Amino acid sequence: MTKPAERNLGLDLVRVTETAAMGAAKWLGRGDKEAADQAAVDGMRLHLSTLDIDGLVIIGEGEKDHAPMLFNGERLGSGTGIVVDVAVDPVDGTTLTASGIPGAIAVIALSEGRGSMYAPGSLVYMDKIAVGPEAAGSVDLEAPVEHNLAQVAKAKDKDVSDLRVLILDRPRNQSYVDAVRAAGGRISLLRDGDVAGAIATAQEDAVADVLLGIGGSPEAVLAAAALRCMGGEIQCRLWPRNDEERSAASAEGLDLDEVISTNDLVNSENVFFAATGVTGGEYLRAVQFRGDQVVTHSVIMRSKTGSIRDMTAYHDLARLRAISAQTLD
Ligand code: FBP
Repeated sequence: MTKPAERNLGLDLVRVTETAAMGAAKWLGRGDKEAADQAAVDGMRLHLSTLDIDGLVIIGEGEKDHAPMLFNGERLGSGTGIVVDVAVDPVDGTTLTASGIPGAIAVIALSEGRGSMYAPGSLVYMDKIAVGPEAAGSVDLEAPVEHNLAQVAKAKDKDVSDLRVLILDRPRNQSYVDAVRAAGGRISLLRDGDVAGAIATAQEDAVADVLLGIGGSPEAVLAAAALRCMGGEIQCRLWPRNDEERSAASAEGLDLDEVISTNDLVNSENVFFAATGVTGGEYLRAVQFRGDQVVTHSVIMRSKTGSIRDMTAYHDLARLRAISAQTLD
């Protein structure tokens, strides 16, 4: 007898990122990144409670004191379904949203099994290299940039001069910019949003070849979840900003020298990932408001099956209002 197909939780997760993106997009260009983030968190919460999971937030909005919702350690879902670790970023690109600049997305990932996601503790930054499926297995975070670019070029049958490297535009990443230019590669500097940047290296019609440089630790875990589904690779190392963070890392038992692999970041065969575009960009289009209709563009992925679905959804606000009024009666 054929086994019944397993449920793809990604199809439920996309409702979470859609509502987050719709909430945040209302704040597009209004100069208030906290309000955009809060609206996205509220949107996520709306659907998370309906998920049939026993979830634990590993990557959330921070510690409980600072994040009344979606805090690290919070339990999510019905509590009776599949045991999962949860990573969320209601908006990756809050500043982009506040400024109305492309590149912001709403993201969530689940991985089956307790302890299956890496917890970066209080270390907020990681040094990263991410590539898509063709170049997976050919790069090494500890090797010089020139070597890694040559490896990626070889794997993709390109010249180094044709590679496009994504780097967060921060002074701390200047040495990467210099090294890529010295090696002959092309660079697109990202104002923000390195989850979408990592994903961009692995898309079918990849607009970029490599993501390099120091960015957020939570974003590394989310990128790893997506890249596990897409067959790409990310390698990272914790990047303390000062002696205080170095001491904190040792107190928390974190190894600052360890190269953290994709599988260390998300250690499960069963990973679900969903993202919805907020401000638009090369990856996912922006939320469009058309009176009572809102259009969202999302991607849904699952590592076990390798399925990647692009989804355009048309939301009818008038009908949604009628349903929530009935629910309140
Ligand atoms: P937020 O939207 O949460 O601010 O994150 C945006 C982002 O650009 C991430 O994509 C990136 O990993 C991180 O910030 C980099 O941090 P910083 O802006 O402090 O350099």
